[in-house]
Amino acid sequence: MPTLTFANTKGGAGKTTVALVLATELARRGHRVSVLDADPQQWASRWHRLSGEAAEFAVINNVAEETIEQQIKDLKKHSGYIIVDLPAGMSPLMAKAIGFSDHVMVPVQGCAMDAVGGAQVLEIMKQLAAQHNIRIPHSVVLTRISSIITTRALLAVRGLLAQQQVNVVNTALVERAAYRDMFVSGGSLYTMDPSRVSNLDKAQENARMLTDDILRLVPPKAARARSAKKVTEAVKDAA
Ligand SMILES: Nc1ncnc2c1ncn2[C@@H]1O[C@H](COP(=O)(O)OP(=O)(O)O)[C@@H](O)[C@H]1O
Ligand SMILES: [Mg+2]
Repeated sequence: MPTLTFANTKGGAGKTTVALVLATELARRGHRVSVLDADPQQWASRWHRLSGEAAEFAVINNVAEETIEQQIKDLKKHSGYIIVDLPAGMSPLMAKAIGFSDHVMVPVQGCAMDAVGGAQVLEIMKQLAAQHNIRIPHSVVLTRISSIITTRALLAVRGLLAQQQVNVVNTALVERAAYRDMFVSGGSLYTMDPSRVSNLDKAQENARMLTDDILRLVPPKAARARSAKKVTEAVKDAA
């Protein structure tokens, strides 16, 4: 029952988008999924309300530092994938969510390399390893990549992250109208009207490939036992 947390201290990095694209694709494949919407702006919850019956999983919307531990514990009893969508900013809630994660996903807008918020999370992961010998698997997911060109800038970002020995998910999330429309209309890439959303098939394929990569990184049985409390304290310390 793996827990995946999407973290980047910067807003607009694509956390909620990747989290929901992944959650809907996992659910479509028959995986049990729960989303913990830890963002006070409640984008995931809003999406869930809009989706009605098209949403094939629960979104829990009252997630706070005081409650997240118990919420994850309860869900672990029956939920396949637990996906935590964090707000921007450093917070004790972020520290806790990271502490309870089996894998931390760091969405970064690849082309602009406005990766400062991503770098803060990566720095915390580094400090955890160096100072506390706690290694939480984590990966950068490149988001909002232009579909037209594999830019030099993107290759440079990949190279830079590789140099720092940061894992980068092979498939990047391309900039597509379909991913924006999900927030407007609710539902998934499979409940949209292909005649109204441009390149919907390409968005679906991109989501499938990204999900394949993440499933390889975090298989359904990847949950690990570790002292969450110790990790949470160390993350707070590192942050
Ligand atoms: N791959 C993408 N294609 C098109 N729009 C995107 C994509 N990723 C994110 N966006 C848009 O960018 C904005 C910020 O994304 P969001 O997922 O809300 O970021 P965060 O949760 O990190 O704040 C939203 O308006 C969203 O619709
Ligand atoms: Mg968000």
